[in-house]
Amino acid sequence: MVNYSLLQEQIREMIQTDPWYVPAMSNISALLMETLPDLNWVGFYVWRNGRLVVGPFQGKPACIHIPEGKGVCGTALKEDRTLNVPDVHAFPGHIACDSASRSELVIPLHADGKAVAVLDMDSPTLSRFTTADEAALKKATEIMENLLNWDGI
Ligand code: SME
Repeated sequence: MVNYSLLQEQIREMIQTDPWYVPAMSNISALLMETLPDLNWVGFYVWRNGRLVVGPFQGKPACIHIPEGKGVCGTALKEDRTLNVPDVHAFPGHIACDSASRSELVIPLHADGKAVAVLDMDSPTLSRFTTADEAALKKATEIMENLLNWDGI
């Protein structure tokens, strides 16, 4: 059982130490990989020059660019909503960066009300992410949205 209130507090403290999105996303992706069981990739894509670009992450090397509306990440950003995909093979246009991935959770992050990045989490297990995981991780992204400095994005 993940202690999500501790995780949220750790995220808050990391960002308060340095709010720039690069160190914050780096340590938050490492923290999520350490804390949540059964993940094979966790990290961020940021919106830059009209497409998503891979940001800090943990896992195998990943696709560098994702166009808006493509894959789970590009769709979550375009439609500005969380996508909890129980079976990535059943998601039209899923981009297979790591062939081990079976389920995926993507949550958009906002700056000034606009979606400017996504948190992407992949699992080798079907239906890995519960609605409780989704709600707690959404809270974590809200902490990020409130505290991050997006300089240079
Ligand atoms: N599967 C994602 C691409 C990113 S990787 O999972 C790291 C997608 O379909 O958008």
